[in-house]
Amino acid sequence: GLVNTKEMFAKAMAGKYAVPAYNFNNLEQLQAIITACVQTKSPVILQVSKGARDYANATMLRYMAMGAVAYAKELGCEIPIALHLDHGDTFETCKSCVDFGFSSVMIDGSHHSFEDNVALTKKVVEYARQFDVTVEGELGVLAGIEDEVSAEHSTYTNPDQVVEFVERTGVDSLAISIGTSHGAYKFKVKPGESVPPLRFDILEECERRIPGFPIVLHGASSVLPAYVEMINQYGGKMDNAVGIPEEQLRKAAASAVCKINIDSDGRLAFTAKIREFMAQNPSKFDPREYLKPARAELVKMYAAKNENVLGSAGRA
Ligand code: G3H
Ligand code: 13P
Ligand code: NA
Ligand code: ZN
Repeated sequence: GLVNTKEMFAKAMAGKYAVPAYNFNNLEQLQAIITACVQTKSPVILQVSKGARDYANATMLRYMAMGAVAYAKELGCEIPIALHLDHGDTFETCKSCVDFGFSSVMIDGSHHSFEDNVALTKKVVEYARQFDVTVEGELGVLAGIEDEVSAEHSTYTNPDQVVEFVERTGVDSLAISIGTSHGAYKFKVKPGESVPPLRFDILEECERRIPGFPIVLHGASSVLPAYVEMINQYGGKMDNAVGIPEEQLRKAAASAVCKINIDSDGRLAFTAKIREFMAQNPSKFDPREYLKPARAELVKMYAAKNENVLGSAGRA
């Protein structure tokens, strides 16, 4: 069955790698994630966002994730699979996912005051704990797409707050803000200019305060240039899309970062291959014909992440 993240994170911490947390909204994404993780023998966290629940229905997604466990077995490898609520916003949302059979939830109280974040997160932990469901909390705010990613506008995690937050809430893992952001436009840089490095000094300071405690990195898509170029080549328009360099993610994965969240990269790969197929096959109209190459590309991309970036391959 589905497992929580406790053992996954203990092993990732000891082995100096990160477990992939991939978002899914539909069948093809889920098939690709499972196929890639079975192929590479990697543990995996399947993430469901509020947007995913609105799009695909929570009941559908939950049964799909349960189906994924059986599917992995059928493919020949029983990898650990967690079903995780991504960015839960209220106690009620988290409770409903716990009641629903999710094995892990995130309560994102990072936009609240410290005290309100503690109170909300603690309430979720107290509920989830009864069902052996693990809880991820967050301190510090990731910059939004419209925001300027700079010291003044992005609220990096304050390392002075992490010990108190972890102790008072009882969370199992902590998401921090060190310069990543969600989406495909993470930094405002001119073509050819390199992106500002992540604040590894803040990460190290957090590690020093809570040694051995699992840290989570959101907004960790690399926005692979090959996919952006393919999208633009076949009629898309994604100017200045830029993400986190893989080298920095490798460095993060080797640290106390035990979970790395990736959603946008999957969207880009999928869209790039569909655009290519549509442009090259204008008379085709069977969705299976264009979803198949898109799905195959996702498998390749997720497998490469597990093997070359997160280091989770061979750890299942
Ligand atoms: O945290 C953001 C994730 O990429 C989910 O995004 O709400 O559009 O599904 P979404
Ligand atoms: P990306 O947009 O960088 O893929 O981040 C995804 C994420 O953090 C989901 O919680
Ligand atoms: Na790690
Ligand atoms: Zn996120």
